[in-house]
Amino acid sequence: MKKARIIGTGSYVPEKVLTNKDLEQFLDTTDEWILTRTGIRERHIVAEGEFTSDLAAHAARRAMEMAGTPAEAIDLVVVGTITGDFPWPATACLVQQKIGAVNAYAYDVSAACSGFVYALSAAVSAIESGRIKKALVIGAEVLSRIVDWTDRNTCVLFGDGAGAVVLEAGDGDAGVLSTHLHSDGSFWELLYQPGFGSRYPASEDGLKQRLPFLKMQGNEVFKVAVRSLAEVALEALQANGMGVNDVSLFIPHQANRRILEASAKRIGLGDDQVYINVDRFGNTSGASIPLALDEANRAGRIKPGDMVLLDAFGGGFTWASALIRW
Ligand SMILES: CC(C)(COP(=O)(O)OP(=O)(O)OC[C@H]1O[C@@H](n2cnc3c(N)ncnc32)[C@H](O)[C@@H]1OP(=O)(O)O)[C@@H](O)C(=O)NCCC(=O)NCCS
Repeated sequence: MKKARIIGTGSYVPEKVLTNKDLEQFLDTTDEWILTRTGIRERHIVAEGEFTSDLAAHAARRAMEMAGTPAEAIDLVVVGTITGDFPWPATACLVQQKIGAVNAYAYDVSAACSGFVYALSAAVSAIESGRIKKALVIGAEVLSRIVDWTDRNTCVLFGDGAGAVVLEAGDGDAGVLSTHLHSDGSFWELLYQPGFGSRYPASEDGLKQRLPFLKMQGNEVFKVAVRSLAEVALEALQANGMGVNDVSLFIPHQANRRILEASAKRIGLGDDQVYINVDRFGNTSGASIPLALDEANRAGRIKPGDMVLLDAFGGGFTWASALIRW
């Protein structure tokens, strides 16, 4: 069986930076509160006229450039996002058009902050089955357009961005060794966007109730996130007969520094094994893992043969891991 190898990574964040100090100007919050509770210093925010598909296309082009893969060679474009340009059509279709991946089929995966790992898993299966040879897997989000900028409990946490990888069918040891996906719909109300869908269709009243904005019960999310991130990371290691010492780099979903540190500790990983960039980008949901993966890759933190462990958790709840031999 062929393995799905990552042959290129790319990422993109919008130019505008919103610091905690900037938030102090219009919210009842402080830089100190945000930093100590979350580890976040700043986040990037889209400009007017800039959309999720734009961020995704930029990240995709960078990944394709690194891979040396022309757009026409891509068989599949899959985007993990919960903040697509439209409810439908899929943002992946818009990206396909923007980059000229004329031979690809394209669809979105909705798994909140686990979206990229879910999308990766689907692409890996398509490659391993022999159905396709090359896939572009993207995580892209514009959270700034669905957070309630009057709600200090949530808006300080999130940011915008995108990351992408090019996967290719290959022989040899390198590639995605396994992916592990889980969901528990009984937690849906702890983290979600109520409107506007079939349950709460568009209405002026719904707008007054701020239904189109993200809702979260942070404390509850925190507890389940730490436990689930640890369990699914260990599941990936066990499935491959490996232990924590085999992990060269652990790239968790960048939700919040306290969640990352607590889950890494529970898994038994040392600080030097954990990649953290939440301080500069905030929680970019489905984009956070590929964004961190690309940063780490370009900074030379990942070398051939390295074992990279991706670990995600998000609304649904959904959680997922992937173990990759680079
Ligand atoms: C959101 C989170 C940082 C809050 O931290 P916490 O220690 O749980 O804080 P609490 O919710 O207990 O709130 C403590 C107080 O701070 C206040 N507060 C909340 N946001 C604030 C802000 N931005 N600035 C200042 N004060 C704030 C609350 O109103 C509360 O005040 P009260 O005690 O007077 O009611 C934390 O729960 C968390 O990280 N949860 C996970 C969120 C997440 O990562 N979600 C995405 C997962 S994919």
